[in-house]
This record gives sequence, C-alpha cells and structure tokens, in this order.
Amino acid sequence: MKRRNFLLGGGALIALGGAYALAANSGNLKVDLSKRTALKMPPLLDTTNSGKLNLTAQSGKTAFFENMVSDTIGFNQSYLGPTIRMKNGALQAEVNNELRNPVTVHWHGLLVPGEHDGGPHIPIMSGESWMPQMQINQQPATAFYHTHIHGRTASDVYAGLGGIIHVTDDRDEDRAIPSEYGVDDLTMVIQDRRFTSRGQLSYDLSMMDAMHGFTADTILVNGQVNAVASVPKGIVRLRLINGSNARIYTLSADDDRSLHLIATDGGYLDKPRAIDTLRLSPGERAELLVDFGNGNSMTMISAGDPNTGPGGMMGRVRGVIDNVVDRSFVVMPFVVDERLPAEFAALPDQLNGDEPNLENKEIAVRQFSLDMNTGSGGMMGGGMMGGGMMSNMGINGQSFDMSRMDLSIKLGTVEKWIVSTSMLAHPFHIHGVAFQVLSENSGKPKPESIGWKDTVVVDGVTELLVKFDMPASQENPFMYHCHILEHEDRGMMGQFIVS
Ligand code: C2O
Ligand code: CU
Ligand code: CU
Repeated sequence: MKRRNFLLGGGALIALGGAYALAANSGNLKVDLSKRTALKMPPLLDTTNSGKLNLTAQSGKTAFFENMVSDTIGFNQSYLGPTIRMKNGALQAEVNNELRNPVTVHWHGLLVPGEHDGGPHIPIMSGESWMPQMQINQQPATAFYHTHIHGRTASDVYAGLGGIIHVTDDRDEDRAIPSEYGVDDLTMVIQDRRFTSRGQLSYDLSMMDAMHGFTADTILVNGQVNAVASVPKGIVRLRLINGSNARIYTLSADDDRSLHLIATDGGYLDKPRAIDTLRLSPGERAELLVDFGNGNSMTMISAGDPNTGPGGMMGRVRGVIDNVVDRSFVVMPFVVDERLPAEFAALPDQLNGDEPNLENKEIAVRQFSLDMNTGSGGMMGGGMMGGGMMSNMGINGQSFDMSRMDLSIKLGTVEKWIVSTSMLAHPFHIHGVAFQVLSENSGKPKPESIGWKDTVVVDGVTELLVKFDMPASQENPFMYHCHILEHEDRGMMGQFIVS
C-alpha cells in the first residue's frame, strides 16, 4: 500500500499525461489527473488471527479539500472506519462510543442473530460499549457496517459512521482472482456529499431532499474527493460499496470495456458475468474484475440518479429527458502503472460460488408496498423538518414503530416477498437474511441481481425468495427497510421476529 502511494504521490500523475478528455463529449466527464490524488484504502483491521475486533465511534476533523477541515465522525478515525477482514469462526467484537449521541454498529451483510445485528434496538449510549460475541458462518463476501439509530441513521452515516467488511476464506488464490488489498484488490466506498465554500460537510435537508433522498454532486471514494487509482497491467478486482444516503449509481467504463461481475451482496457467483453497466443502490455491494491488460487507462462513470434530475418523480418523462441531457458524471479514473505487480492476466472461467435456487420452496407469500405517504401528516404537511416530515413514509401504510412487531417468521423457512412501489426507485434491504431475486417487473432479474442479495432496487414490482436462517427475538428483531436513509428515518421500515 505504501508503495502505491509513493508511485502516485507528488507530481507523478502529471507525468502520466495530465488532462485527458474522454470519449463522451460531456463536460462532466473531463478528468484532470494533475488535480487528483492517489486513492487510499481504509486501514486494514485483520481479525483472521486474533478473532477480536475493536471499534470506537469518535469525532474528528477531516480535510476533504486542501487547507480546509470539516467536522466528521468515524470508527477508529475521523471519517469512515477500517476495513475489517474476518473469516468464519468466533469473533469477539467490542464497540465503544465516544460520541455524545447513541450509535449502533449494524453489520449489514453478516448473517448473525438479531441480538448481534446492531439494529436500532441495540443502541450504545455515549461513553458505553457493546461486546457481542459473534459466530461468523457464511460465504466470503463484502459487507458494510454502519450506525442504525432510528431517526439519526441518515445524518450519522452521512457524517462518516460506516465501514467495510471482507469475509474471506483465504482461497482466492485457488479461484485465481486478485486478493492483494490495495494493489490488485481495491475496496471503493462510493459516496456523494455536499460541502460549504469552507470545505465543511453539509447536510442541510430541504423538503425535496427529504422526499427524493439526499443527493449531492461531489463524489467521494473512501472519503477522498478527486481520487485516482493506479492499477497493475492485468486483472484488477474492485469491491464496490454504495455508501451514499440516497444516490443510485449506474456504473460503466467510459471506454465501454466489459465489467466482469464476480460477486453480489451475499458472495461469489458461479462464474464471472460480463456486463456493460452495473446498477448499485445504497447498501448494495458488487465485486467486479476489470481487465487492464492492454495498459489503457479507464474512467469509471455513472449515469444520473433515477430519483432526481429533470422529471424526477415521473419515470417516463425522466427516461425521455435523459436521452437529451446527459447527466453522466465521473466516479473515478484508473491509471495503469506497469511497475505494480500484475498477478493475473486472464479472467477465471469458474468461481464456483453458490448461487441461490429457492424456487418453489416458499411456505408463505407476503406483499409490501413502499409508501411515500402513509397519510399520517401528509407528504407536504407538518412543516419542513417537523413531526410531519419525520413520520410520513411507511410500508403497507404504516410508519415504523419500534414498539410494534410487524411480522413473525418461522426459522429455517423460505418466503416469497412481493415488494412494490408506485413512486421513485427504492433500495429494499432485509437484515439477517440472504435472498434470491425471482423477478423484476415480471421479467428476469438484471444480471447484478442474480447472486445472493440482501438489498435490491425496487422500481415497480420485485419478487424475492427470502431464506430465514438466523433467529431474532422480540427484544432484538430484524429490520426490513428502504436503504435511502432519509426514507428509512422517516419510517419506511418494519421489523420482524424469526423463531
Ligand atoms: Cu444497511 Cu438496516 O441497514
Ligand atoms: Cu442491514
Ligand atoms: Cu425509499
């Protein structure tokens, strides 16, 4: 990792060619490498030998821009947290809270019982700690930990309380895929943020933001503005995490090279699948292999967020306008550095990941409608930030209530969940499970929805087959919710028992 930083440090980038204009003609897609700094990986917290893990929620100052600092919060550092590497077996965690407000650590993507899940019922009060003694038992995957206090999740994740988990079985060499952290295996937490002219993070929620979810036009990767990654001349693995509050990315390579999807939220696919675009909504993870063997640089770009922009609320109008106005933007450029070791020159044929096949195993069918307006207060009512705005979204007509149990599910069973929405696209997430996406708007799931998932975009009607293998009690239930954090905090969430 040190070496990467050295290679890209100082003036090295200018020598690589300065500004280059990209294939597309939009001004939003110009990259000036001389204004960018080398992408850094979050520090690695490797628990695979110790079986122990320590996190402290703390406040700090982060310089997102030169000579300007912002107040931020993070785990063990000022913004975001370490990448936690873990393997199956016992894991003793200790989480301390040095902040004034309560936090939780929800292990989004870990299959652990409700009492270890870190949901809103497990707050860690200021000055206190939480010590779950966990058993990790799942396929290798990339997961996402973050705070989950009801009503504060959006603002606290925005300010920095999130981080990444790699569940590993140490067999990636056998799979012939890259696994050298920060060299050919890059973790990328993608976020969008707004800043004041003084470089201070700002989270000033207008009524439109509360409705659409808070989006912004400065892109951060691992908390860095204007990052550039240097990569070896070979196969590179990207672990992508959408850590944004609300923005849905549709990622692609600016030179139209294929992206090879190898893993979704819950783990590896059976074999790599070539895709041109990858839709990634808040809370979703995907792993890609990208071939840099020809030595060409590439810029990862994204299409505009489907929930915002012209005609935001009206999908059809939006589709037409997007054909005229290109809302694409740069996520991050990649520059090939031939001095970096390229371990793999070819894609693997097989990964032998376990893909879901839960068809016809369901014992129950449930319907969920994601409602922008539950009638309580009204979408426009209740003032800007008042009680009305806080409680007007819901699921099946009801806003989230910590004291109301919504569902009780039998441990070890499979259910079909039919999730629908009539306005906007919503990333639907379920705690403590992995699911199969059976259909999207009565068609086959998109390629990025084929593997095991725990979060999926619902834009119309999506059918899921959900396997409930982890217990959750009345005291420590699991959540299901929209992962647009402004929607979640406003009540688009429910909770359930598994026993
Ligand atoms: Cu990542 Cu309940 O959330
Ligand atoms: Cu979760
Ligand atoms: Cu939503």
